Amino acid sequence: MEEWGETYHSKHGAIQEAKHVFIQNGLSLFKEQSVAVLEIGFGTGLNALVTLLEAEKLKLTIDYTGVEAYPILPEEVEKLNYVSQLNANQSDTDFQLMHSSEWGVKTVVSKGFTLTKRQQYFNEISDKNRFDLIYFDAFGFQYQPELWSVEIFKKMFEALKPNGVLVTYACRGSVKRAMIEVGFSTEKLPGPPGKREMLRAVKK
Ligand SMILES: C[S@@+](CC[C@H](N)C(=O)[O-])C[C@H]1O[C@@H](n2cnc3c(N)ncnc32)[C@H](O)[C@@H]1O
Repeated sequence: MEEWGETYHSKHGAIQEAKHVFIQNGLSLFKEQSVAVLEIGFGTGLNALVTLLEAEKLKLTIDYTGVEAYPILPEEVEKLNYVSQLNANQSDTDFQLMHSSEWGVKTVVSKGFTLTKRQQYFNEISDKNRFDLIYFDAFGFQYQPELWSVEIFKKMFEALKPNGVLVTYACRGSVKRAMIEVGFSTEKLPGPPGKREMLRAVKK
């Protein structure tokens, strides 16, 4: 990850950011239903774990797909302390299963939560009308500008069902313009601690 100048843990307040951007402004829009989530950048599984924990409260059934080209190593998984940071020791085995589950295979992680991890590049995504919600959690524009492009957002737009929602921590003007160009309606929302604004885009 060093070549991108950013590591997962350098992010200031990763847990608060995940909760604010992806849960509060994304998942919480859904209540008592099934939600198909696509995550752009499965990474350490933090967003997946936070989603599993919140889904119970919101009475959601989650069909979660995490796309990741560069899976983290088992020794890196061992060092993660999200379960204790989240006071979620009861979900430790679920989190371990998220990481040990086979790539490309839909796995029942817990009652009401299935996970399919797909090892692929974001520009290989070709799903159509399949997801209710996208967590767009790529590394920042300054490190990987090619991922914040019309080409990628077109794929995201196509992957969503009508009225599907994409949330991201970014709020850069060029990102918003790329989203609008492919057909999204966008809104700026207050950002997580340390970031002024974030974006939510809807496929109207
Ligand atoms: C900000 S991190 C995601 C963090 C993750 N959501 C979590 O909860 O830990 C971005 C991820 O995108 C992955 N990535 C970078 N470029 C990629 C590409 N072109 N295709 C697929 N994955 C990529 C990185 O390996 C990294 O795991």
